[in-house]
Amino acid sequence: MQPAQRKPLPRSWALERTVWLNTGAPMPLLGLGTFRLQGEEAVRLSLDAALENGYRLVDTAAVYRNEAAIGRALGELLPRHGLARGDVFLTSKLSPKDHGGELAEKACLRSLEELGCDYLDLYLIHWPGTQGRPQQDPGNRERRQQSWRALEKLHEAGKLRAIGVSNYTIRHLEELLADCRVPPAVLQVEFHPEVAQSELLAFCHQKGIHLQAYSSLGAGQLVGRAEVVNIATQQGRSPAQVLLRWALRQGVSVIPKSASASRVAENSQLWTWDLSQTDVEELSAMDCGKRHCWDPSAVA
Ligand SMILES: NC(=O)c1ccc[n+]([C@@H]2O[C@H](COP(=O)([O-])OP(=O)(O)OC[C@H]3O[C@@H](n4cnc5c(N)ncnc54)[C@H](OP(=O)(O)O)[C@@H]3O)[C@@H](O)[C@H]2O)c1
Repeated sequence: MQPAQRKPLPRSWALERTVWLNTGAPMPLLGLGTFRLQGEEAVRLSLDAALENGYRLVDTAAVYRNEAAIGRALGELLPRHGLARGDVFLTSKLSPKDHGGELAEKACLRSLEELGCDYLDLYLIHWPGTQGRPQQDPGNRERRQQSWRALEKLHEAGKLRAIGVSNYTIRHLEELLADCRVPPAVLQVEFHPEVAQSELLAFCHQKGIHLQAYSSLGAGQLVGRAEVVNIATQQGRSPAQVLLRWALRQGVSVIPKSASASRVAENSQLWTWDLSQTDVEELSAMDCGKRHCWDPSAVA
């Protein structure tokens, strides 16, 4: 596949904080995660701190039930920060209950409406299986293929600037790549030193799919780990910053979530320093496959 021509960077974005997707569109390497961010006030506070600290990507999903609150908060906050819709990269995801051609299309349009947008920068299939079906059910495969067709259609209509998947394994990706008009631009998966996913990362790299990490902090559990704390102390950084930098060092983008303005700010201080190669290797040696989220490997 020929690499797509690079589209220009919005003026409020920094080059060193950006990756170009296989669509040619730029995407920020740092975004705000919003899983379990609930309530108008909590959403506004976190987003306000994020925009203030240079975040230009917001990650949500239909299942997080906060799309409408995020849409309203962005409507209020963007002008206050001197920003427009085009300055923010918005991602949402298809709920696992909405797999299937027509259902997926309707679900995506609903997300657009909730967020108050004409288009999304990225829309992901959240999970390879359909909610309510056994993981081993071969029907999961057909349903997610129908969903992908719906996403391709919305991509071609300009409603979804990029489309991708989440929680797919190499097997799920190979199957999708063998039968798609539009290849996925992004794979979002659990990625941190305990689930280092080196094979999956190499596969994505080879296929031109950008890997985006979720639960970089192990959903908060890894910041107290001795290996991480020791490196953080040596570097004069926080454990969260060390975990985020470890992913960035491998070309993987990050979307840490925090409901606290000071931690949102802390999680953005990632650009003026680096880990040593030894630090990276010590962190990677923690790899033990211990997931803090869900494991998709049994989904047919
Ligand atoms: N595609 C998927 O299936 C999937 C699955 C999971 C997550 N995600 C996405 O990825 C995002 C990030 O993952 P996540 O929310 O699971 O976990 P995470 O970002 O790894 O960790 C969030 C947790 O860490 C705490 N925290 C944040 N910054 C901290 C810091 N500097 N020091 C100490 N603790 C800190 C937060 O608490 P406070 O809020 O109190 O600060 C929260 O409890 C989600 O919000 C969501 O957007 C996607």
